[in-house]
Amino acid sequence: MRLLCGLLLCLVVWAAEARKGGKGRRMRSRDRSNTIKRFAEDCKESTVNGEKFFDCQERHLTAVLLGWPEDIHHLLLARNKIQVLRDNTFSHFRNLRSLDLQQNEISRIDEGAFNGLSRLTTLLLQHNRLSVASEGMLIPMPQLKYMRLYDNPWRCECQLDSLVRFIQVPSNRNIGNYAWCAEPREFSGRQLKKLDAELLCSPQQENVLIPHPGNQTLPASQKKSDATSLCHTYVHPVPRLDCSNRDLKIVPADIPLDIVRLDLSRNNIKQLRSKEFVKVKDLKLLNLSGNSLENIDTAAFMGLLYLGELDLSNNSLRYFQYGVLEDLYFLRKLSLEDNPWICDYNIHYLIYWLKHHPSVSHTGLVCSEPEEFRGWPVENYVKTYNADCPKDKQLAGITGQELTAETEEELFPELGPRPYRVPKKFEIIRLT
Ligand SMILES: *[C@@H]1O[C@H](CO)[C@@H](O)[C@H](O)[C@H]1NC(C)=O
Ligand SMILES: *[C@@H]1O[C@H](CO)[C@@H](O)[C@H](O)[C@H]1NC(C)=O
Ligand SMILES: *[C@@H]1O[C@H](CO)[C@@H](O)[C@H](O)[C@H]1NC(C)=O
Repeated sequence: MRLLCGLLLCLVVWAAEARKGGKGRRMRSRDRSNTIKRFAEDCKESTVNGEKFFDCQERHLTAVLLGWPEDIHHLLLARNKIQVLRDNTFSHFRNLRSLDLQQNEISRIDEGAFNGLSRLTTLLLQHNRLSVASEGMLIPMPQLKYMRLYDNPWRCECQLDSLVRFIQVPSNRNIGNYAWCAEPREFSGRQLKKLDAELLCSPQQENVLIPHPGNQTLPASQKKSDATSLCHTYVHPVPRLDCSNRDLKIVPADIPLDIVRLDLSRNNIKQLRSKEFVKVKDLKLLNLSGNSLENIDTAAFMGLLYLGELDLSNNSLRYFQYGVLEDLYFLRKLSLEDNPWICDYNIHYLIYWLKHHPSVSHTGLVCSEPEEFRGWPVENYVKTYNADCPKDKQLAGITGQELTAETEEELFPELGPRPYRVPKKFEIIRLT
């Protein structure tokens, strides 16, 4: 009887629960268990060139979870919510070569946090909330070659002394670059790499007037336009800089030199200046889609020997100046849609270049002006242009030597004294 009563009571309670939203509660608790599982399962394991990657980026993680595969080489934890790295957090991952912790909320790293990472070469801690750290945390990682620390509010006081000295050892040239002091005021904006370490622990630090050779404190505006503080860098699988949607008006300065993919899309860049990318020699993909580009200097792409893909879609381009594309030897893909291409004489250079580079596939080259050609593929416009001007008429009065550039004559039928008819003179024109 008592048992039956108990059961009945249970039933009644259960029914009442169900009536007043027990269903919702059940859903919620199922959600929760799903969520926990999902965090662990959602991370993607993959193998590239024999190296194992474990990708747990952007998963709202606040800690490293148990049960992750231990034989991985690369652990990607960017854009989570980790705040503290405690002792031995990574000690299971003995094969780890790179550890990406950027864009978390890390404000504290315990001295033994990186214990066991004896093979780690790359550690990314940029875009976090670190103000102090000591060299001690680096001792378990004798192979460390590459460490990013910028965009953290470093407090340049005595506690930071050992780390600063470590960063400044000449052989550590890829460690701690671009990291700045946020505090105290007299050091604010100075690079950790270049700080006089002697001053950090000097007892009268507060009172010492630090000599600024040439007043080196970076003005805020200059800091703001620096690529490394504005954009996010990624190392795997290839060095990539993501500057999209940052309201940029110009291409930022100091793009790290090893970047392979550069995303500048969805900004407000109106023009590309001369030699804008000249030092970023490994660049393979450049995305300038969704800007307000009207004008590209003829030397803007100088040095981009290996660029394979250029996205210029969704801009305000009307034509290319003569010579703009000449530096792009290995281009394969050129996206040109959503630009107000004007089908008049100036567009011929682009068609001419494309004709001479048959390996380049291009998309989106459609006339928007003048009205009579609106919606036409630009190639078709050029064809009718040439049909309207029969060749023999145009060629009257040209010397035999000039005739060698046949294709160009087709495309540039207005002969006359225009210098770009003679291929030998391309170089000169580019500079004018
Ligand atoms: C350095 O810059 C500060 C702030 O702009 C200014 O007040 C100071 O006079 C400058 N010092 C020198 C030596 O130019
Ligand atoms: C360039 O960026 C735009 C917008 O962010 C994107 O839609 C497009 O796919 C990107 N192009 C390439 C080639 O990655
Ligand atoms: C073109 O660029 C603008 C500004 O960046 C963006 O808002 C828009 O979505 C883009 N359009 C397309 C079709 O990508």
